[in-house]
Amino acid sequence: MNALLRTEGLMKRWGGFAANSDISISLAPGARHALIGPNGAGKTTFINLLTGVLAPTSGKVFFNGEDITGLPQHVRVKRGMSRTFQINTLFSGLTVLESVILAIVEREGMHRLWYRTVAQQHAAADEAMSLLAMLRLERELNTVVRNLAYGKQRLIEIALALAGRPKLLLLDEPAAGIPSAESGELFETIARLPREVGILFIEHDMDLVFRFAERITVLAGGRVMAEGSPDDIAADPRVREVYLGESAHG
Ligand SMILES: Nc1ncnc2c1ncn2[C@@H]1O[C@H](COP(=O)(O)OP(=O)(O)O)[C@@H](O)[C@H]1O
Ligand SMILES: [Mg+2]
Repeated sequence: MNALLRTEGLMKRWGGFAANSDISISLAPGARHALIGPNGAGKTTFINLLTGVLAPTSGKVFFNGEDITGLPQHVRVKRGMSRTFQINTLFSGLTVLESVILAIVEREGMHRLWYRTVAQQHAAADEAMSLLAMLRLERELNTVVRNLAYGKQRLIEIALALAGRPKLLLLDEPAAGIPSAESGELFETIARLPREVGILFIEHDMDLVFRFAERITVLAGGRVMAEGSPDDIAADPRVREVYLGESAHG
C-alpha cells in the first residue's frame, strides 16, 4: 500500500505532559480525512508535527514513502505538503489575481529571473485564472484581498496553498471565525478540489465533518481514540461519550 502520509508512534511531550502519544495514522492519496476531538485533544499539535513546526519527542512521519521526520518546514512544502497561512499584510493589499500569480511565480522560482519571459508570465496568469475558477472566485479577480468577505479570504489562503501544487493540504479549522452560512459554502468548495490533492482537516462542526470526510480520526487526550468511516465513528459509543462529556462542560 502506498500511503501519501503515514505517522508511526508520533509523540510530543512538554515536560511531563504528553500532547500527542503514540499516534499512528495513514492517509491514502486523494484522502478526505478529518481529525476531530475535544479542545486540547492535541489536533493542532499533531498538524504542527506533520509540517515540522514542532519536532516530535519520538516517532516518525513518512510522506510519499520517505521519512521526513527531520526535514525543515520549507523542504516539506517543496515535497508537496502544504498548509494555509493567514494572508499577511503583503498579500492583503494585492488583488486576488495578483496574489495567486505571485504564489505561482514563487513556486516556479521565476521571481529570481530578471529575464522572465512574457510567455512565462502568461502561463502563470492562465494557471492563476484556472485555479481561481476552480475555487469559484472568478468574479473577485480584481478585488483587493483585504476588501473580501472573511469567508472569501479563507478561500484565497487555500488558493495560495494550492498554487504550490501540493499532494497534501492540511487545514486547521478553515471555517473558524466565518459566519456559518459561509462555512458550508467554503467546505463545498474544498470538497470540489481535484483528487490529486489529499486533504487532512480539523473541524469542530460535526455536520461539516460528516458531510465532507471519508475517514475520521478521533483524538482524545493526545491519543487516537477511534478511526474509521463516518458511519463507524457515528456509531461509536466512546466517541459520543467524549462529545457529550464536552458539551456538558460547556
Ligand atoms: N507549546 C506548548 N507548550 C506546552 N503545552 C502546549 C503547547 N502547545 C499546546 N500545548 C498543550 O497541548 C494540548 C493540546 O493542544 P492542541 O494541540 O492545541 O489541542 P487542539 O488543537 O486539539 O485543541 C493542550 O493542553 C495545550 O495546552
Ligand atoms: Mg487546535
